[in-house]
Amino acid sequence: MKKLIIAIDGYSSSGKSTMARRLAADIAYRYIDSGAMYRAVTLYALENGMIKADGTPDIAALKAALPHISIDFSPAGADGRQHTLLNGRDVEHDIRSLRVSEHVSPVAAVPEVRHALVAMQQALGREGGIVMDGRDIGTTVFPDADLKIFVNASARTRAERRYAEMQAAGTHVDFEEVLANVTQRDHIDETRAESPLRRAEDAIDLDNSRMTLEEQDAWLRARFNEALKKHG
Ligand code: DC
Repeated sequence: MKKLIIAIDGYSSSGKSTMARRLAADIAYRYIDSGAMYRAVTLYALENGMIKADGTPDIAALKAALPHISIDFSPAGADGRQHTLLNGRDVEHDIRSLRVSEHVSPVAAVPEVRHALVAMQQALGREGGIVMDGRDIGTTVFPDADLKIFVNASARTRAERRYAEMQAAGTHVDFEEVLANVTQRDHIDETRAESPLRRAEDAIDLDNSRMTLEEQDAWLRARFNEALKKHG
């Protein structure tokens, strides 16, 4: 049976990574968090003085650094998650910080960064059997994906989720700050010139504001089964 390519796009903290990861585990496909790749590049830029005083990236320095940035994913660890590796170093915790969240959208808007990461993402999905989540997976990375989902939820619901996640990880932040970050990232992601956050025309919409995790899993599994019948 053919192994499918599944693209899950949507707004930040819409729960798309959780649903993508759980589906991948359920159907024994590989899961790739493309946002983690943009976060890893952002962490690299922050650590190497490539973010200017006004908070925007130093594009020339970032472009020159791209060939020296390698991003991989470790196999799933004891916590059931695969960890993001930046030049071999486990940065899974660091890339989820508010500091990285605050700088990632401008870095992800740099065309050269996008070209490099999109090429890596396409290479990862070449064999199929992949669930990838992000902003432009169904539009730019895999326009021919076998199943495309576009996830949305209100900005407040999404900020509450991100806040709970950060609290659980032991990061103490102000809720209003998290909400402001979510709204600001939506705006930058939607309005950037290079592959903005956009729903693919053939995507299936999901608003999961009022769904439990189990309902969401069942909904996605049903969409997968339909896609498998059609394309498998
Ligand atoms: O999904 P996330 O919040 O971890 O994504 C972090 C940032 O990366 C987000 O603000 C936009 C960017 N991103 C992107 O531009 N394209 C993707 N395919 C995935 C993420």
